[in-house]
Amino acid sequence: MNNIKNQFPIFEKESGLTYLDSGATTLKPRSVIEKMMDYYTNYSANIHRGVYGISEQATTAYENAREKVAKFIGVEDPSEIIFTKGTTESINLVARGWGDKKIIEGDEIIVTEMEHHSNLVPWQELAKREGGLIKYIKLGQNHKLDLSELAGSINENTRILAITQVSNVLGAVNQIKQIADVVHDINPEVVIVVDGAQAVAHMPVNVAELGCDFYAFSGHKMYGPTGIGVLWGKKMLLDEMDPVNFGGGMIGEVSKLESTWAPIPDKFEGGTPPIAEAIGLGAAVDFLENFGLENISDQENEVAQYALSQLATIEGLKIFSAGEAGIMAMELSGVHAHDVATILDREGVCVRAGHHCAMPLHQILGAGATFRVSLGIYNTKEDIDKLIVGIKKAKDIFKV
Ligand SMILES: Cc1ncc(COP(=O)(O)O)c(C=O)c1O
Repeated sequence: MNNIKNQFPIFEKESGLTYLDSGATTLKPRSVIEKMMDYYTNYSANIHRGVYGISEQATTAYENAREKVAKFIGVEDPSEIIFTKGTTESINLVARGWGDKKIIEGDEIIVTEMEHHSNLVPWQELAKREGGLIKYIKLGQNHKLDLSELAGSINENTRILAITQVSNVLGAVNQIKQIADVVHDINPEVVIVVDGAQAVAHMPVNVAELGCDFYAFSGHKMYGPTGIGVLWGKKMLLDEMDPVNFGGGMIGEVSKLESTWAPIPDKFEGGTPPIAEAIGLGAAVDFLENFGLENISDQENEVAQYALSQLATIEGLKIFSAGEAGIMAMELSGVHAHDVATILDREGVCVRAGHHCAMPLHQILGAGATFRVSLGIYNTKEDIDKLIVGIKKAKDIFKV
């Protein structure tokens, strides 16, 4: 993976950029940008409608992207891949389309204390609409999930477990297969919804092996464009789910007062979809597969372990992470996270500060705000050295 930065045009303009915020969004490689430019320049027609050449070309490129995404996460039938705007929209689609139909009063929805708001608020709202109950799996030692705690929360009323594969704050990787086995041993009917937003660009993912029912992720966190995401669901569940976005392209028949729906995936993709973005996402899949997820994971882990060893030398720094999936949130005693991030910015180092859309987790950690380092394929140990210099500068400025 030498000279990987050459593949990211942003580094040509910003040669001093140390980008440590890939958890928020990754930078974009040339291959993705060019693939989208190619669509806009050479065949920017709408899909699924025209019988003329460039429309057919666009349709083929869009559907090819679906096939690539399916293969990328181990799915045999591409019609199980629904294009959405991102993880948030994917989870809302399950909560509305499946949840509204299936959840009744007294049903229990299990979430964990480490969820991003996108895998929390849609379930809170579903519970309010339908009279369901939200239950939390607590964090155990080292901020990992406690499997005995998990087993104790599942009963005959449990309908949904909504869980992240990788925490966007703790970097903790949840062992979804093991968790799914524990849950289904107690209640085989529980529908498991996995938030894969922080996983897909950092480790190989095969949804069939995970044993889940729905899997959601975003294109922009895996070197693809913004405005495109994915919901994978088991065909049987997608078939019984209601669409939530009604209009052109998602119907079977329309009469004056009634309509029927197209089969999946079209049923969920009403209106003109993000065509260029889907094609760009296909290019992002190619980009990742070219390096191999195992290789990416090994390299990011090496940089993360180096980061942890260097960060450990800084007095007053509390790290809430074991560095898995390249994510490390931390707090510098006596300095607000936003101040640290501002000083780092002056050094050309980009990190994110705040609650990272995980307020309940920050309350549990006892931290109002943290600053977060999250790695991507382009990060090196030199980037970490610059981070360390920046944090030390913040300590000097604030005299802590
Ligand atoms: C774990 C996790 N889930 C969901 C999301 C939401 O993703 P998006 O904003 O692309 O919908 C994020 C984004 O930060 C995330 O980190």
